[in-house]
Amino acid sequence: MSETAEATESAANAANDESNDAPRTNEASADSPVISIRNLWKVFGPKSARMRLPHDEQVKGLSQTELREKTGCTAAVRDVSFDVHKSEVFVVMGLSGSGKSTLVRCLTRLIEPTAGSLDFNGQDVLSMDKDTLRELRRHRASMVFQNFGLLPHRTVLDNVAYGLEIQGVGKAERRERAAEMVTKVGLDGLGERRPGQLSGGQQQRVGLARALAVDPEVLLFDEPFSALDPLIRRDMQEEVIRLHREEGRTMVFITHDLSEALRLGDRIALMRDGEVVQLGTPEEIVANPADDYVRDFVRDVPREQVISVRRAMRKAEKTEAGKGTELAPDTLVADAIEAVARSGESARVVENGRTIGVVDDARLLSVVAGLDEDAVEGRGEDGEPKEVAAV
Ligand SMILES: Nc1ncnc2c1ncn2[C@@H]1O[C@H](COP(=O)(O)OP(=O)(O)OP(=O)(O)O)[C@@H](O)[C@H]1O
Ligand SMILES: [Mg+2]
Repeated sequence: MSETAEATESAANAANDESNDAPRTNEASADSPVISIRNLWKVFGPKSARMRLPHDEQVKGLSQTELREKTGCTAAVRDVSFDVHKSEVFVVMGLSGSGKSTLVRCLTRLIEPTAGSLDFNGQDVLSMDKDTLRELRRHRASMVFQNFGLLPHRTVLDNVAYGLEIQGVGKAERRERAAEMVTKVGLDGLGERRPGQLSGGQQQRVGLARALAVDPEVLLFDEPFSALDPLIRRDMQEEVIRLHREEGRTMVFITHDLSEALRLGDRIALMRDGEVVQLGTPEEIVANPADDYVRDFVRDVPREQVISVRRAMRKAEKTEAGKGTELAPDTLVADAIEAVARSGESARVVENGRTIGVVDDARLLSVVAGLDEDAVEGRGEDGEPKEVAAV
């Protein structure tokens, strides 16, 4: 999509009429999902209306290629279900064409889903009327785009203030809020420049500040950093992590980059051909890939930097009680290797004052070597030790 088109789309996210007094309703409680989708489908093509989705067994049985050959349709999103929890960074990852952008655009109906259900804080998004939907896009979910989507003739401050302007916020207040956001994303002193006078990384900071200025409940990122060079990209990832730590804002983050997904995601949904093939924490995905496709995807991940000692530990012998270095269960294997090397003996994994297992050289190395993947001795199907000596 061109930059201008994205500027228009981001404006459309928030734009269209002057009514901006719709109430903010149904704030999510701590344990109810912010976004909840079930059996969501998006089928592009002339015959999609004739399919009896989401439960059309015939369509569900067809591969992407078969569906295209038989019907001329593309199922960009196929029967996808998940919840995004409050304050979570939910990453959607997959190769080009796997349906990530379609999925994220369905969340605010910038693309109309073909079938399924979609709730935002318990409110049915698919049955929202025009005004409620506009309110959702203006106030509650902001998008950050890959190509920044800035308005080239406007200054940084005016770009950041844009969403507020559309909401009808007065000039003094919006300039003040915009200035605050410009500072927050590290662009102090650049407020009067135009996008053309900024580097790519700086432009994306403007995009981020604009999305934050409307104080949305959810930030939606569609591959926001893939146009940036690796160092700047790293900076921007740190920025997102920092903002998330400081504000706990709920985020849905699309990427095709595994290391970015592992760095940012509390949970990751891995997509292939429109389907979610695995949904889990970075550790679950790396430690227990659901199939060969996922295994291939995570093959080169440094496992010791993702897997924790809770997965690597073995049962403690009675004689090991009370001896050796103590590690918390979420200690990364990489850190445990250092601790074990330093002390020269195995380390105990301790939770709530109880020793729940032990890691030694052999266990830690088996993680690094990728030998720990399936049930190893003493580990049940859920990856937890079958029995541990609580000493
Ligand atoms: N408007 C459309 N009409 C028909 N097919 C479409 C349309 N938009 C997307 N598709 C198809 O849907 C599939 C998913 O596209 P989508 O843009 O969601 O993928 P993506 O995972 O975001 O890819 P990328 O990483 O390249 O951005 C692709 O096969 C694409 O060709
Ligand atoms: Mg895309």
